[in-house]
Amino acid sequence: MTAYSNQEIAELQESAKRHLWLHFTRMSSYNDAEIPTIVRGSGQYVFDQHGKRYLDGLAGLFVSQIGHGRTEVADAGARQASELAYFPLWSYAHPQAIALADRLAGMAPGDLNRVFFTTSGSEAVESAWKLAKQYFKNIGQPGRYKVLSRSIAYHGTSMGALAITGLADIKAPFEPLPPGGVRVPNTNFYRAPDFVAHDRAEFGQWAADEIERTILREGPDSVAAVFLEPVQNSGGCFPPPPGYFQRVREICDRYGVLLVSDEVICAFGRLGYYFGSERYGYQPDIITFAKGVTSGYAPLGGMVVRDALMEPFVRGESSFLHGVTFAGHPVSCAVAMANLDVFEKEELLANVRSNEGAFRSTLEKLNDLPIVGDVRGAGYFYGIELVKDKATKETFNDDESERLLRGYLSPALFDAGLICRADDRGDPVIQLSPPLTCGPEHFDEMEQILRTVLTQAWERL
Ligand SMILES: Cc1ncc(COP(=O)(O)O)c(C=O)c1O
Repeated sequence: MTAYSNQEIAELQESAKRHLWLHFTRMSSYNDAEIPTIVRGSGQYVFDQHGKRYLDGLAGLFVSQIGHGRTEVADAGARQASELAYFPLWSYAHPQAIALADRLAGMAPGDLNRVFFTTSGSEAVESAWKLAKQYFKNIGQPGRYKVLSRSIAYHGTSMGALAITGLADIKAPFEPLPPGGVRVPNTNFYRAPDFVAHDRAEFGQWAADEIERTILREGPDSVAAVFLEPVQNSGGCFPPPPGYFQRVREICDRYGVLLVSDEVICAFGRLGYYFGSERYGYQPDIITFAKGVTSGYAPLGGMVVRDALMEPFVRGESSFLHGVTFAGHPVSCAVAMANLDVFEKEELLANVRSNEGAFRSTLEKLNDLPIVGDVRGAGYFYGIELVKDKATKETFNDDESERLLRGYLSPALFDAGLICRADDRGDPVIQLSPPLTCGPEHFDEMEQILRTVLTQAWERL
């Protein structure tokens, strides 16, 4: 890889600092520092403008399942753009959307057979809430509009999705949000309340029962849906305790509430299955997806819904009054088909399932470091919770978090050649979610970089 010239780099930096607005980013942190600029990707690695290589331990942003630089997927997009670059799914269909909807319906669990496309995860979540609301109005239960979701869970940033998101800090500037978002406990067993901290199954039972108690408190006739990720991302990869989803399903059935599995991260192999709900053996009413469906070669999201939810919309004058211009874009659908071909050809689900034990045990080696409190996750999706005191699980105060994560860990990990995420939206964690093509040599590389940087972080504290 040839690096950009010094002049090209200087021009890029100047333009970026003058004109580009980075998401969820303190722009001031780049006043005197270079904005990291990624210019190329190949396999499990990406390269910056200096030609420096980084292991993409986060698959971009939980996206690049098949890795970077796959020309067969890029070519599929280019071919489609020449054939038919754009046509809307408003009243019309096009072959790529038809083929992809058919394929996804075949892959999704149970009678999830209808696919409604969007362009992103936030739009998928937004669409699922809107569908739930209109569905209940159409079947004569107009009082149902509330949505339960878990504390610290991230479900997107558009106003509806943000109302479902459980992160107070990123909601506050936009209050008042649409009414109806209600929080229930998450499944962070490491921080379980004392009375259920001795047993995962009991903890899971309690956390699920809290959903029932909340439905009763809010009034069952006012609750439309429960939104849950198979493994909760924000807070650092909380897998479901045994029996949790089975109990949640029972509760949803008892009160006529829809179970939405938000699989924007957990679908398409992240947990070794096409859908995370398959891994944990539960049947959702709606699955929301995005990210890995195209491995990022073009933007696409959507929801797969049960036949029964479509019922009230297939008769007479009824229609789902919702849509977006670029949803199910022909290029994105063609790319998704080619992406799924790679999954099949290279048996990526099998790769994750056969290697996830090695991924876990490699990361668990870090447990010997004093700063590592918990290593948790599933498939190729792991969080490492950092603590000040391993014995008491004492976490860092705001000032220490700021110095540790923002001031040191994020830049140090990047400098050391690893793209991952140091996050303090709950307790401080490092998150890993590498391409599904990774194997033991990549796990070792991640572990070695993390060991060096975390050791230095501890020494600086
Ligand atoms: C579980 C979940 N839902 C929704 C979203 C929002 O997706 P997007 O950023 O594509 O709007 C995300 C994004 O990370 C997510 O992780």
